[in-house]
Amino acid sequence: MSGLQAGKADNEKSKNEELLIEKDEAERQKEYMRLVSEIISGRAGETGRPLRACVITFGCQMNERDSEKLKGIIMECGYELTDTEEADLVLFNTCTVRENANLRLYGRLGHVGSAKSKNPDMIVGICGCMTQEPDVVKKLEKSYGFVDLIFGTFNVYKLAELLYARLTSGSRIIDIWEESKEFVELLPSKRKYSFKSGVNIMYGCDNFCTYCIVPYVRGREKSRNPEEIITEIKTLADNGVVEVMLLGQNVNSYGKGLKEPVSFAGLLKRIEEIEGIERIRFMTSHPMDLSDELIDVLALSQKICDHIHLPLQSGSNSILKKMNRRYTREDYLLLVEKLKKAKPGISITTDIIVGFPGETEADFNDTVDMVKQCGFDSAFTFIYSKRTGTPAASMDGIPDEDTIKNRFDRLLAVVKESGTDRSHELQGKTLPVLVEGVNDHDETLLTGRLTNNMLVHFPGSAELIGTIVDVEITESKGFYFFGFMTKKD
Ligand code: SAH
Ligand code: SF4
Ligand code: F3S
Repeated sequence: MSGLQAGKADNEKSKNEELLIEKDEAERQKEYMRLVSEIISGRAGETGRPLRACVITFGCQMNERDSEKLKGIIMECGYELTDTEEADLVLFNTCTVRENANLRLYGRLGHVGSAKSKNPDMIVGICGCMTQEPDVVKKLEKSYGFVDLIFGTFNVYKLAELLYARLTSGSRIIDIWEESKEFVELLPSKRKYSFKSGVNIMYGCDNFCTYCIVPYVRGREKSRNPEEIITEIKTLADNGVVEVMLLGQNVNSYGKGLKEPVSFAGLLKRIEEIEGIERIRFMTSHPMDLSDELIDVLALSQKICDHIHLPLQSGSNSILKKMNRRYTREDYLLLVEKLKKAKPGISITTDIIVGFPGETEADFNDTVDMVKQCGFDSAFTFIYSKRTGTPAASMDGIPDEDTIKNRFDRLLAVVKESGTDRSHELQGKTLPVLVEGVNDHDETLLTGRLTNNMLVHFPGSAELIGTIVDVEITESKGFYFFGFMTKKD
C-alpha cells in the first residue's frame, strides 16, 4: 500500500472510531433516559398525575437549538412539557452576552425559589453560557441553595445522566467542563417547528472580539464533520423539513481544522443538492471571512434565502480596530456592494454596538453614515455592556449615560428609516412565503416568512402551515407586511 493510501485508510479508520465513540456515548445517554423515566413514572404513580417540566431559554439561536435537545431528552425521561414554571423540573438555559441577560435570570430565579418552597420535590436546573463563568457558579452555590443542577454548554447531551445522579443521590449536582470533549448529536430533540429546523454546523468561536464573552463560554471553534451534517439534513428532509438554518458563531469560517477541510461555500453546495430542502439560511456571518467563493455560491443558489445577517458592530475604523473585528468600513462597504450585485434585492441585516469604550461623536457619526450607505433592512442595536474577563473590560472612555442614550435613539431612528424604505420596495410584489402558523391575533389570517426573513400576514387556512405559497404584498407596516395569496405552490 502506498503511503498516500495508508494515510487515507488511517483517516477512514479514525473517522469510524469517532463515529463509534459518539454512538457509544449516545447509547449510554439513552440508557440513562430509560433509568430516569422509570423513576419519573414511579413518582407520577405516587402523585396521581404526570410530572411536568419547563425549559426557559435566554439568548441566541445556539441556545434555542440546545433547548430543543434538552426538551427531547426531558420528554424521553418521561416528563410532560409545560410553559409554566409551576413544574416538577424547571431548567434555565442561560445567556451572558450582556449584563441584562444575567439580571433577567436572577429575577426569574427568585420567583422559582418561592415556587420550590411549596413543592420541595421540584428540581431546578441551570445550564448554558452563564454557568461557564466561575463567578456565576460561586454565586449560585452561595446564594441560591435551592438550585439542584448546574451544568454548562459543553455537556448539554448529559442531561439524563445528571438528572439520574440528582434523583438517586438527592444532592446538588454541579458539572461544568472547560472545553467540549465530543459531539453527541444522535439524541432525541423536540423541534419547535415540524417544517423548519436549526442545524449546528460548528460550535465555539476563535475571533475574540474584545467586547465579547462568547469565546470564553462556548470554547474554541470546532466544525462538525460535513458527512454528519448532510446525513442530519437528509433525515430532517425525510421528516418533512423544508427549511434549514445552519448555525454557528461564524459560519463563514466553517471547515477549518477538519481532517479534510471543506469551505462553507462547499458545504452549502452539497446542502443545495438535498431533495426536499427548499430554503437554506445561515447565521451568523462574520464580514472578515465572507469569501468571493461564498458570494458566487449565493449568486447561483436556488435555495439560499435572500437574506444575510452581517454584523457591522461599528462604522468607525478606529473602534473596529479596538473591537478586534479585523475589517474596515471600506471592506464592509465593498462586501455590501458585492452582495447586492450577486443577489439583487438581498436583505442585509446587522448588529451594532453603541457606547464602546472611547467612542467619540465622530465615531458614532461614522456608524450612522454606514447605516445610511448600506441600506440595512433591519438592525439589532445594543448598548455596550462590560463583560468581566474580556479585553474591552479594562479599556477606558465609556461615554456617559446620557450621551449613550442619545446616540442609541438617533441610531434607532436611522435604522427605522432605512428599514421602512427597504420594506416599501416590496409593496405590490408577489413573493414565496413559508407558512409558519395561524396569526396570533386574528385566526382568519396566516403568518409566514418571506425569504428575506420578514413576516407576512394573509388570509388562509391552517392546513397550509409548513408549505410555501405565493403571496402578493399589499401593505408594508415597516417591520412586517399584509398580503393575499395568489396561488398555492
Ligand atoms: N457571532 C456573532 C454574534 C454573537 S453575539 C457575530 O460575531 O456576529 C450577538 C451580538 O451581541 C453581537 O453581534 C454584538 O453586537 C452583541 N454583543 C456581544 N457582546 C456584547 C457586549 N459586551 N455588549 C453589547 N453587545 C454585545
Ligand atoms: Fe463574539 Fe466576535 Fe465571536 Fe461573534 S465573532 S461570537 S462577536 S467573539
Ligand atoms: Fe448568549 Fe451564549 Fe448565545 S452568551 S448570545 S446564549 S452563545
